[in-house]
Amino acid sequence: MSAKFTVLTMVIVLARRQSTVLLGLALLLLTTLTAAQPLQRTELDEDQVQTLYSAYPPLPALDPHYSAGSSPPALLSPILIPRIPGSTNSTAVQNHIVNHFTRLGEGWTLIKDHFTAPVPEYGGLSGSLNFTNLIFKLAPPDSDDDISAKYLTLVAHYDSKVAPHGFIGATDSAVPCAILMYLAEAVTAASRRRWKNDPFSARDELGLQIIFMDGEEAMVKWSTKDSLYGARHLAERWESETRAYPHGRFSEIQNIDLFVLLDLLGADSPTVPCFFGLTAWACRQLAAAEALVRKIGIAKSKVKTNFVNPTNLMTNAFIDDDHMPFLRKGTPVLHVIPVPFPVTWHTLEDNAKNLDLDVIHDWSIFVTTWVAGYLGLGEFV
Ligand SMILES: *[C@@H]1O[C@H](CO)[C@@H](O)[C@H](O)[C@H]1NC(C)=O
Ligand SMILES: *[C@@H]1O[C@H](CO)[C@@H](O)[C@H](O)[C@H]1NC(C)=O
Ligand SMILES: [Zn+2]
Repeated sequence: MSAKFTVLTMVIVLARRQSTVLLGLALLLLTTLTAAQPLQRTELDEDQVQTLYSAYPPLPALDPHYSAGSSPPALLSPILIPRIPGSTNSTAVQNHIVNHFTRLGEGWTLIKDHFTAPVPEYGGLSGSLNFTNLIFKLAPPDSDDDISAKYLTLVAHYDSKVAPHGFIGATDSAVPCAILMYLAEAVTAASRRRWKNDPFSARDELGLQIIFMDGEEAMVKWSTKDSLYGARHLAERWESETRAYPHGRFSEIQNIDLFVLLDLLGADSPTVPCFFGLTAWACRQLAAAEALVRKIGIAKSKVKTNFVNPTNLMTNAFIDDDHMPFLRKGTPVLHVIPVPFPVTWHTLEDNAKNLDLDVIHDWSIFVTTWVAGYLGLGEFV
């Protein structure tokens, strides 16, 4: 972006001083330079969207009733179990996620952010608990780690609440996790083709990382100390971990291009506020991706998402969630969460039965279409 801007400024200054012939030459040069820029933040066209979803239909893998152990492998149903931090069920869900990315193969690397944190007493247990954030990065197999990259960062939490007993958190956030697993699969092959066909893209400054956050829920009662265990830990860690790059020293947190948090998706709830003016552009792009998918006729749900300015809501729309520790450190955030929350929120009713299959199908396509465009994958799908 900044490189492009410098060229443009230079050309204009140059052109003003010289004749119109030079202006013509300069514009030609500018056009050539612009054409040579990596394809980033472009939209997929209709054919590309069709091609992508013929190759990667979200169903049946995202069907909550599709049984684990089938082929293609189920993505959502193995997550629909209680998965309290530090429990064996939590480990089972982690393994399910890790196995999926292992299957996707070359290009994906895993960082396990494992830590222990003090928790209030619950269910007769007290003291501290083990938490694990899972971070998957997609980068060219031979990429040079010394070149700083910006990461489009997609996030959902995989832990579930301790109470009520048996809580499964289908929208909170099993569905968002499964959508991110699906998205990863849908963009892997196209990313590899892009690296292969466009030698410059392998040194691209924009990468993708997907975070499955642990310990979002309070163990007992929501407070600054009893909530967001994983996000608080990772934001601290990534702020203090800095590296020297050719252009200076940067922390991992500065390498987040945009922090996209998906939460409470999967039920029929059509209003999503665009919380932050700074990232209104991202909201617009996501809305445009939805509009394109609907225009082609591959959306299954009837009601279009209503992306609204939060000040237009008749409610106090401040929402504490995994984005907050990052937002406080200056990270740009897109928080994709319906307001009002699904009616089943934090009850035993937030289960497979109350999910809307059409809505799950559509969110997976809306988000993937937008992300594929963001990563410049259009001509490689
Ligand atoms: C673990 O998941 C199973 C379902 O696979 C469930 O029956 C069991 O209650 C869960 N365990 C805990 C401790 O929540
Ligand atoms: C927590 O993790 C550590 C290693 O990372 C392990 O030794 C310990 O047993 C774990 N504790 C529990 C309660 O699982
Ligand atoms: Zn919750």
